[in-house]
This record gives sequence, C-alpha cells and structure tokens, in this order.
Amino acid sequence: MIENLWEDGRDDSAGLAVLAYRSRLLGKDRRVSNWGGGNTSSKVRLQNFKGDWEHVLYVKGSGSDLATISERGFAGLRMDDIAPLLNRDEMSDEDMVEYLAHCVTEPNLPRSSIETLLHAFLPFPEVDHTHPDAILGICCSVNGKVMAEEAFGGEAVWIPYIRPGFSLAKMVAEAVRSQPDARLVLLEKHGLITWGETPAECYHNTIETIQKAEAYLEERVKGDVPFGGSMVQTLPGTVRDGLLTEILPVIRGSASAQQPMILHYDDSPAVMEFVNGRASRELSQVGAACPDHLVHTKRVPLFVEWTPGADREELIKRIREGMEAYANEYRAYVKRHQKPGEAAGDPYPRIILIPGVGMVSTGKSKYMAEVSASLYQRAIAVTRVCSAVDQFTSLSEEESYAIEYWPLELYKLSLAPPEQAFSRRVALITGGAGGIGKATAKRLLGEGAHVVLADLNAAGAKEAAQECNTEYGEGRCLGIALDVTEEDSVAGAYRDAILQYGGLDIVVSNAGIASSQSVENTSLQEWQKNIDVLATGYFLVSRAAFQLFQRQGTGGNIVFVASKNAMVAGKNASAYSAAKAAELHLARCLAEEGGGGGIRVNTVCPDAVLQGSAIWSSSWREERASAYGITADELDEHYRQRTTLKVNIFPEDIAEAIAYFASSRSAKTTGCILTVDGGVAAAYTR
Ligand code: NAI
Repeated sequence: MIENLWEDGRDDSAGLAVLAYRSRLLGKDRRVSNWGGGNTSSKVRLQNFKGDWEHVLYVKGSGSDLATISERGFAGLRMDDIAPLLNRDEMSDEDMVEYLAHCVTEPNLPRSSIETLLHAFLPFPEVDHTHPDAILGICCSVNGKVMAEEAFGGEAVWIPYIRPGFSLAKMVAEAVRSQPDARLVLLEKHGLITWGETPAECYHNTIETIQKAEAYLEERVKGDVPFGGSMVQTLPGTVRDGLLTEILPVIRGSASAQQPMILHYDDSPAVMEFVNGRASRELSQVGAACPDHLVHTKRVPLFVEWTPGADREELIKRIREGMEAYANEYRAYVKRHQKPGEAAGDPYPRIILIPGVGMVSTGKSKYMAEVSASLYQRAIAVTRVCSAVDQFTSLSEEESYAIEYWPLELYKLSLAPPEQAFSRRVALITGGAGGIGKATAKRLLGEGAHVVLADLNAAGAKEAAQECNTEYGEGRCLGIALDVTEEDSVAGAYRDAILQYGGLDIVVSNAGIASSQSVENTSLQEWQKNIDVLATGYFLVSRAAFQLFQRQGTGGNIVFVASKNAMVAGKNASAYSAAKAAELHLARCLAEEGGGGGIRVNTVCPDAVLQGSAIWSSSWREERASAYGITADELDEHYRQRTTLKVNIFPEDIAEAIAYFASSRSAKTTGCILTVDGGVAAAYTR
C-alpha cells in the first residue's frame, strides 16, 4: 500500500520550496511516479521585477526527475499570457513551445514541461500529474472505463487516450469544468491528474486516490496466479553468473552494432516472476505500460525463448538470432510510421528478458541502463495487476510511434550533456589502486568512461573506486580484487566487470612491482616474481581480454604500461627490466595477432614517475640510488634536472599517453610504443 509521506507540521504555503518538497515526496516512491515522468505545478501571485503583482505558474521543467528536483528545476510562466490560449481550437506542438517560451518570468530556467498546459488550463492552485502503478492498473485495462466508474464513481473524469499536447490539455480542462464533482482525472493508457487548494491538500488527494485504486484492485483480483504461473524455475545464482559471463558480452556486442551500449542485469523477485511466467512472452509483446516509458524501453522487449538448463550454446544462438530479428522488426515498424525527415533510432532492444535468468537492460551509461530497468519494473507491475483483474492493453503501434518519435520527447533526451571520447566505453585497469592506475581511471572517467579498477590491494581498489564515484557519479567505477598471476583470479575479475557493465572495450594492463638488485644478489624467487607479475600476468590479462573481445565481436583496445627499462638496460634491475622487455614484446606479438579482429595493442613506457607512485616511494628509490652510488634525494634531483622542462613526470602524464592509445585518436596505430620521459630520450639516460 502506498504511504502518505507528508511530514506533520510541514510548511503548507504555496511557493517553490514546498512545490519542490511535494515533488520529491511523489518521486520517492517509484510506484507513484516513475523516473523522469510526472510533473507538478503551483499557481502563485508574485511581484515581478518591475514591482507589479502577477499570477505565475510554476511547473516542472523538461528533463528533470521529481525524486531529485530542486527549486531551480521549475519554470515560471505568466498566467495572463497563457490564459488566451484556452480560446483557441487547436495549436501545433511547435507553436505551443514557441508561445510558452515567451511567457517565462525569468530567463535561464529550464524549458517548461511538455505537459505545461495540462496544469495551466485547470483552475486549481496546485496540480499533480503522475503515473502510479495502481492507476495504470485501471487505465491500462481493457475495461478501464467501467473499472474507473466502479472505483471512483462521479469523482473521476475519464479521458480516452490522445497524445499529450494542446488538445489533451484543452479536453481535460473542458471535461473537468463540465463535471463539477470531479476530484481527479484518469487518462486512458497514460496516468492520473489530481489537484488541491494547498500543496498538502494536493499531495493528500494524489495519495488517497492511489490508495483507493489499490483497495479497489485488491478486491477485484481474480485469484489467478500471476502471469499464468511459473513455466520455468530461476537457475541457481552460481549457474546464472557463469551463464551471464558468457551471454552478456554477446548481448552487448549485438546491442552495440550501431552505437556502444552499457548493460545492467536485474534478477529482483518481481522480474524473475515475470520472466519465468507462462503467459509472460505474450504479455510482454502487448506494448508499453505508459507513454513515458517508451523512449527508454521501446514499445516491446526482446523475450528470448529458451528452456533453462538447455545447451548454453543454444541460448547464445537464440540471443544472436533474437537480437537481429528484433532489429529487423524495429526497422520495419519505423518504416510503417516514419514521416519525411524523421531519422530512425537505434533498432536494437533496450530490454531483454530471459526465462530462468532475468532481465538485461541497455543504455548509453550504467545509469541510463538502470533507468530503463526501473521503468520496465513499473511495466511488469502494471502488466501484473491488469492481467490479474482484467486484461492488459497498451497504446496502438501508431500511438507508440507518435510518442517515441515525438519531437518534444526527443528534445528531453537532447538536454543530456554531449557525449565524450570515452562515453559508452568500459575500461579495466589492472594495478588500479596504484598511482598510474588511479590517474588513468580519472583521465578516462573525465571523458565519459566507466572503469573497473582491479588490484592485488583489493581494499585500495575499492577505496579508489569510491573516490572516483564521488567525483564522477555513482556507478561509474567499480573496485575489485585481482591477482594478475592467478588464472582463476583473472577470470573472476573479468566476470565481475562483465556482470557490472556487460563487457569491456579497453584493458589497461598496468599492475607492477619494483625490484632493484645486482644480478649476483637476485634470488630465483625475485626473478620469478618479476616474470610472474610483469610477463605471465600480462599474458593472462591479455588472453582473457582477447577471449572477451572475440565474444563481444566489437574489437578492443589493450594498452600495456611497460617501462623505459624494457628498452634500455637499467643498472641493478635485470629481473625487472628483462620481465618488462618480455611484456613489451608480448604487446607487439598481440598487436600482430589482434589486428585482423580489430584489437589494437600499444605500449606506454614511462621513465621515473616520482609522484603518486607507490613504487617510487618504496625501497626501489633507495636501491636505484645506491646502484648509482648517490643518495635517494640526489637521484630525485637528477631526474628533475635532466628533463628539458625541468619538471617531474607525474602519473597524469602517463595517463595522458594511455588515454591517447585508448582513444580513437590513435585508431590507425597498433604495436606502437610511446615513451613518457620528460623530454629526454630514455635511451640516453642511465
Ligand atoms: P604503484 O605501486 O603505485 O602501482 C602498482 C599497482 O600494482 C599496486 O597498486 C599493486 O598493488 C598492483 N599489483 C602488484 N602486483 C599485482 C598483482 N599480482 N596483481 C594485481 N595487481 C598487482 O606503481 P605505479 O607507478 O603506479 O606503476 C604502474 C606501472 O607503471 C607498473 O607496471 C610499473 O612497472 C610501471 N612503471 C612505473 C614507473 C615509476 O616510476 N613509477 C616507471 C616505469 C614504469
């Protein structure tokens, strides 16, 4: 049951602060207001900049989410300018947007919601428009109109489906005027409008209306098991993880055919009940449960027909075929409805349902993939209730297309920040807790990447990831444990990365240790350790990257971090230098092998990185100095003095070189080496 969250004694005066508070309360429970959907308004009398009093409509701005909206998320419009519109018979979307742009009270606020006139035309001070699950349980039922009568009697105005815009706003205003006892409006296949004299009254009306709908639906449930009962059982967690490690890259590869996508996996109980249901395949193809879902979920999901437990290869085959069949059908759907000048969108599904396994959603970022999943969870809830009490119905194909390709909906999407060099890309960085690893993560995150930081120092990797998420946004970075010398550990790190983002595009092989010893004092153990981490470790990480890139079918990008010691002799560092040389040559070999499959492998060779590197603050610094018969401070000074710029080499300088190889700026280069030596060729220094 939906709860009334209004705090006792809370300020109830009209105005922006309380409007923002009310909006956040509505957004807090996704059963009331789904992500990005719904809008709220308040009509107030205010003194304008000239000191004159005027009637202002504050309404949610386009592109924000009620759950997180602040006072700056609303637009202010002069009611006196809007009022004459009620006398018009019709108005195009373009004219409406253009007209409303002239009504604003303050520049630099967001463009007002595309449903502004719904609010403006209603003669109530406070208005809420939401898409609650229980209301859609009535509005998306075939017999919704009859059910609305039964649940609300004369209190509800029923509006048959038309696309939002001027005509819907006018229709609602006229219907409410001609039904004086009306307390709410039910929009067929769309949502709810409620109002009040004060902000609190408006909120209470919204919540009471939803509670009433919930109680009515509960009474009506036919007693059937949801979705026709389970057709299959959910696979055990470990079996699913193994399966997902194989199938997510396949899905990601297919979904990225037009533009790279990030994936999100959901196995919540409500999702599992749906994907396992006997009637679910058919129900999932009826259509969207709310127009607001469409641009993020598409009209229908891909439902993969598969019997859990059957051959894994069979599932992969069905996914591949299903993704292509979906894309072909989507292209045909666009063709059937496309108007001149309309560009077709990405044809691949945003929601993929797999019996026994769960739901996979796609998006241009982890966040947007999660948004799609959260909207589809609402669709599942609505489908569940509609089919329990009546029969689920949705927008027709034509109505769906009109919303999906509605220029005003597309405008909302265009408000997102522009894409960057590493947007939609996922990078794994080994040695991610260290100086160069973390600087590289921040360099890539700063240009839109998602990053997995993997390190022997698991706590350090998690801490670094947390720092990155605070700086660049939740969900952008994941910190995990990895020992590059262990085959199982490498497999585990790739599994973690795949389960989180669906796959990888970039692998920065950077983990390292330092060891400085004259050859006669180098133990076999030390020699072996260098070989294990710097040669074998780089082989294991690269082999897994090749296998993943091949499964994804997208090509890939590997950047090795070697050292100047890989090319020139470093005194008293034979184990380290020889292992780094093996690493460097491995990169060249892999470049040769990967070329045909679109996998590039390049190497960055840093000289001494004095700042931020754990290596440089370890005994390595002292040992290197003693190898040359000088003090550690003298060695630092030596490095500073010899650079032409008279500056240190920072981890950020290495990150810049790595970012170059990881980006499309170096798209035509593989098997190459970039030294970062402070401007003095590494080969000429001791
Ligand atoms: P760092 O010590 O700050 O970072 C290296 C990271 O690798 C550490 O967090 C460590 O826990 C991790 N690591 C060690 N063994 C591992 C294993 N078996 N599995 C997974 N992770 C492991 O050092 P820095 O400077 O960031 O080094 C990064 C890379 O740059 C290394 O490959 C190093 O050889 C190379 N390099 C560094 C130079 C410098 O002056 N700092 C100069 C030339 C090359």
